Order: sequence, then structure tokens, then C-alpha cells
Amino acid sequence: MENTDEIIRKYPPAREYLLSMLHELQDADPGKYLTEASLTRVAEYLQLNKAVIKGVADYYSMLSQRPRKKLLLQVCGSLMCHHAGSAELYTRLRSRYGHHPLISLAHCECLGQCQQAPAVQLDQEAFSGADIVELIRSIDKKTASDENS
Ligand code: FES
Repeated sequence: MENTDEIIRKYPPAREYLLSMLHELQDADPGKYLTEASLTRVAEYLQLNKAVIKGVADYYSMLSQRPRKKLLLQVCGSLMCHHAGSAELYTRLRSRYGHHPLISLAHCECLGQCQQAPAVQLDQEAFSGADIVELIRSIDKKTASDENS
């Protein structure tokens, strides 16, 4: 794993790179989250108040300040997906994966996959929740390959 400073210094010290920086730091962390130390280093590097950095990390649901399991399964709860049944889909996924050793399940805002409503994302891979059987098959296949890596 690259250390925090190596990741941060890949980017120019400008606020426009903040989100990219935070995503990369989160992905590189073994707990898949943004530590207090990494948020402090980002604030120092960008010469911004740490509260500003934490505010951004709080705002985006794909960013976490608490440890997560290896895979993040997100269900979009924004308008189009809500109308396409995302709340029921979330409930079904929670009953199947709520205590899964590799998966953290979370609600999120629009994933930019509205044409697949209700949209689901497992790490960086997008799925449609319209066919729950196919979705579960895809998630199980992905988690099986991650259990072996
Ligand atoms: S509203 Fe769900 S992906 Fe856009």
C-alpha cells in the first residue's frame, strides 16, 4: 500500500483534486475508509481547514470515515431509482448480505446509472437491480472471486 503522502503528492495542491485524492486514499486504506490522519494530511497539503475536508467526506456517501468491509455494495436511493423500487431492493439485499463477511451495504445518491434503475454498484462495477436473480448471481460471483484473492 502506498502511504498517505505518496498518494497526496501525486496531485497538485489544488482544491479541484480533493475528491480524487480522497477516493484514492480510501481505496488504498486496508479498512477502505478515510482515517483522521489522512484527512489531516490532506487539509495540510491543500492548506484548508480540516472541517472543510471532513465536510466533503461527510457529503459524499461513497466516502466513509469508518472502516468498511472489503466490498462496498451501494443501492441508489435517488428519485428515479426510488420510483423503480430501490427501497424494496435494499431490503432484499440487506436480508441476503447484511451480515456478509466481505460486503458493506449502504444507501447512496445518484450513481449516474439512472437508465439501469434501480441502480446498484459493487465497488466500481454498476448493476441494474431490475432483475434481482441476475443481480444476486453477479454479486455472488464477484464475492466468490474476492474470497479467493
Ligand atoms: S437516480 Fe439512481 S442512478 Fe440516478
